[in-house]
Amino acid sequence: NEIKIFCPATIANLNCGFDVLGLCLEGIGDEMIIRKSAEKGIRITKITGADLPTETEKNVAGVAALAIIKNMEIDFGFEIEIHKKIKAGSGIGSSSASAAGAVFGINELLGKPFSKHKLVDLAMKGEAIASGCEHADNVAPCLLGGFTLVRGYNPLDVIRIESPNELYAVVLHPHIEIKTADARAVLQPMIPLKDAITQTGNLGGLIAGLYTSDYDLIGRSLKDVIIEPLRKHLIPNFDEVKNSAILNGALGSGISGAGPSIFALCKGQDKAEKVAYAMSESYQNTGIAFDMHISRIN
Ligand code: HSE
Repeated sequence: NEIKIFCPATIANLNCGFDVLGLCLEGIGDEMIIRKSAEKGIRITKITGADLPTETEKNVAGVAALAIIKNMEIDFGFEIEIHKKIKAGSGIGSSSASAAGAVFGINELLGKPFSKHKLVDLAMKGEAIASGCEHADNVAPCLLGGFTLVRGYNPLDVIRIESPNELYAVVLHPHIEIKTADARAVLQPMIPLKDAITQTGNLGGLIAGLYTSDYDLIGRSLKDVIIEPLRKHLIPNFDEVKNSAILNGALGSGISGAGPSIFALCKGQDKAEKVAYAMSESYQNTGIAFDMHISRIN
């Protein structure tokens, strides 16, 4: 009647896949405890590690939990404890981890009536209250693992892609907060045709590279000509960090989700460690505290 779960952090967009691509990190994430209660409905009973609302309708986990029980005839409810390790507004899927954890845990306690793909859809409802719009590029990898591609939103069509064995993600997380809604407000609704061509070419190249473990192709494709130019000024030293990652052998680098975290993908752990060192060196002079993670893609 109780389940303890680990809700992994995720990187969304991955340069060329705005709102459609994401990957699941290993070893960094929140913990949640969900238990059945005699009282109907959803209650957030405890939150540690973050100052977040405990009112069910204002909490991403609460909203996602309400979405999963909405049309179910059950004469009990659920209590949710959230132990945040992923900082809000960090760009590695903090709100998604809570939303995904809530629907995953409740589904387990209900005897798994929903498929994981359906859970992505339900978790997206919770995520929407954090970002101001429904997008699944963090909740999908959080629930399915590996890389995920949102092929379509209407209806939701998510494809899981295995990660090549030697691929590692490096994440530099500056301790400043960027709200997803603010990072979306700087975007333009229209894009030039030539940029759409460049971006779709790279997205196709990246997917092909992942399927064939072609690391050079992955590297050539990790580019973003649409979103990064509009968002990068929100992140101090972004260009310096990205350039140092590439100069030290990263396959590619960019903004993790809506930022401020900056990620790099690397072939092999040694390279990832070298790149992490170089990225942190080039962030030092900002005076902003930060932490680094190196992770396999799980
Ligand atoms: N795709 C989303 C964005 C992810 O970049 O706005 C952040 O939640």
